[in-house]
Amino acid sequence: MRLKNKVAIVTGGGSGIGEATCLRFAQEGASVVVVDKNGSDANTVVSKIKAAAGEATGKDVDVTNREQVDQMIHDIVSKYGRIDILINNAGITADAKLEKMTEEQWNKVINVNLKGVFNCGQGVAKIMKQQGSGVLLNSSSVVGIYGNFGQTNYAASKWGVIGMTKTWAKELGRYNIRVNAVAPGFTLTPMVQKMPEKVLTMIREKSPLKKLAQPIDIANAFLFLASDEANFITGTVLSVDGGVVL
Ligand code: NAI
Repeated sequence: MRLKNKVAIVTGGGSGIGEATCLRFAQEGASVVVVDKNGSDANTVVSKIKAAAGEATGKDVDVTNREQVDQMIHDIVSKYGRIDILINNAGITADAKLEKMTEEQWNKVINVNLKGVFNCGQGVAKIMKQQGSGVLLNSSSVVGIYGNFGQTNYAASKWGVIGMTKTWAKELGRYNIRVNAVAPGFTLTPMVQKMPEKVLTMIREKSPLKKLAQPIDIANAFLFLASDEANFITGTVLSVDGGVVL
């Protein structure tokens, strides 16, 4: 029970890595708030957690919408009295090569992957500062560090997440708030399953481990960084990519 009595918010908790993180955190004793713009997916994850005798609440929230985020934070504090962990996991792609990328594709990805992280991080940090403790974890990507063909918007957003992580670590450390990022490699979720099988095979071949990550591999990294075992770790980016860039 590494997260016993902790209240954890996971954005994008209705699918993929977010869902795995919600289930894993609940197993470790956290009260999990499953946040997703797809409310029915969030509720399905809540049902799974409750079926396993865990504690969870679902929130139908779009992280780009400031009012919805503020209301959500207010509701969570009213219900649980505190927020110990925020996993800023909600993220999207809208791929195109540089010359073909539309302004709409750029804005859409930047809005969710950067503004969404800012909205939730800023709102939750205020609560954590009052408490004098907390852990903020952001989802970057191997693509943020190394770039990727067809992902100008996504790579920029995921590199930006690293900048926010390091800035928040510097600003919030004095309030006993730790801030870190996880940079997953290619992970078998709906986001990646829409990529051509040829590309996925190429990535598998390139990886020393000869496989893609499972969502639980990333969830376990979030769990470690959220737990007290990571008490002296802040401002870092933990790559969980199977060595694909070696
Ligand atoms: P996914 O597509 O399976 O799940 C993303 C979830 O976020 C969905 O449930 C979606 O409804 C939700 N979401 C999207 N926009 C939202 C918004 N505006 N407000 C609230 N919820 C919203 O994606 P996956 O693969 O699980 O990715 C999770 C995170 O991990 C993302 O930030 C992604 O960029 C990052 N990541 C994923 C990798 C992969 O290979 N799957 C690799 C590296 C990073």
